Amino acid sequence: MSLDVQALRAEFPILSREVHGKPLVYLDNAATTQKPQAVIDALVDFYSTCNSNVHRGAHYLSDEATRRYEHARTVIAEFIHANAREEVIWTSGTTESINIVAKGMAERLQAGDEVVVTEMEHHANLVTWQQACKHAGAVLRVVPILDNGALDEAAFASTVNSATKFVAMPHVSNALGTVNAVQALIQVVRKQAPNALVLIDGAQGIAHGNVDVQALDCDFYAFSGHKLFGPTGVGVLWGRRSVLEDWPVWLTGGEMIATVSYQDATWGALPNRLEAGTPNIAGAIGIAAAVTWFQQLNVADVQAHEQALLQAAVERGATFEGLKLIGNAPNKIGVYSFNLTGAHPADLGFLLDRQGIAIRTGDHCAQPLMDRLGVPGTARASFSIYNTLDEVELLFRGLEKARDMLA
Ligand code: ALA
Repeated sequence: MSLDVQALRAEFPILSREVHGKPLVYLDNAATTQKPQAVIDALVDFYSTCNSNVHRGAHYLSDEATRRYEHARTVIAEFIHANAREEVIWTSGTTESINIVAKGMAERLQAGDEVVVTEMEHHANLVTWQQACKHAGAVLRVVPILDNGALDEAAFASTVNSATKFVAMPHVSNALGTVNAVQALIQVVRKQAPNALVLIDGAQGIAHGNVDVQALDCDFYAFSGHKLFGPTGVGVLWGRRSVLEDWPVWLTGGEMIATVSYQDATWGALPNRLEAGTPNIAGAIGIAAAVTWFQQLNVADVQAHEQALLQAAVERGATFEGLKLIGNAPNKIGVYSFNLTGAHPADLGFLLDRQGIAIRTGDHCAQPLMDRLGVPGTARASFSIYNTLDEVELLFRGLEKARDMLA
């Protein structure tokens, strides 16, 4: 079996539009994925037929909204193989998920404790830990990468030690596409730092394979809906129940309490204790619709298709004069970051855009990584299931035109 890409594309209305009078070639999927009609319909249906607040109303619509919203939590729990649905906390996205963990950890870290991150972090999984360490007087240890963009696993093993209290690392690098061997790395942590907790930033990992949080043996896994064919403004913090149960509350207000007096309050049970206020109900229903839609696909087919696109780009780029691939780790998703001699990435982005081709340029919210690589930024094409080999070719033809214009 292989993906029927044309049939898939037909499910994404936006892919048939034009930009600047040219057919859209959307190669910015690491920034956000497009949405299939099934997700758009789920959002419209919620607001058209059952909009109401959850867990509150004594009426039919509120009951129905609550049922759909809590069913969405079950869909996510099953998707990531959580041990219990209460381990799925709704957030606004990966950044908020990581902040909940880092702010809680800031209260627990002691001076001299160590937190381990990697050189390939997105700012969301770096600045958070930097600030937590500053708050507590803890030490931030940064594991280097190799020149090909892979994590230096030997350095990781020699960095994690009995002073390590937290390890935060990406499943997949947004700027380079590197897939980290997180399961094996977590085993290193369990052996060498048995008291440390581990968070995986899954923003870029969630849409490219099977995520099984129990098999990974992490303590937290964070991801966003919008990189998984779902809506923006909703995401998930999965946490191991025993860890989440007494995690410091980060937001107080309605729904997260057990009892309240004028002078004090006690907190409710999971998941609500970490979900104060009216949640993004439509978002939760939308992300569940995205997951249900995504689960119809065969993961092996998804991966094979994305690898074929990446491979085609790597081969075409290898003979493209002046093009330097940034990040060629052996295990990558379909992220193709590059620079072209004599062309600023921003100019490339602009000139490709005029041809209908959407990529991202700049530091990709990973400034220290760009410094480590010695580049101001890169141009990044990131592929998804609905991209075609023709679109890869259009990228390179677009680059030829851009190069001629800049000459
Ligand atoms: N983190 C997203 C990206 O890599 C926005 O583009």
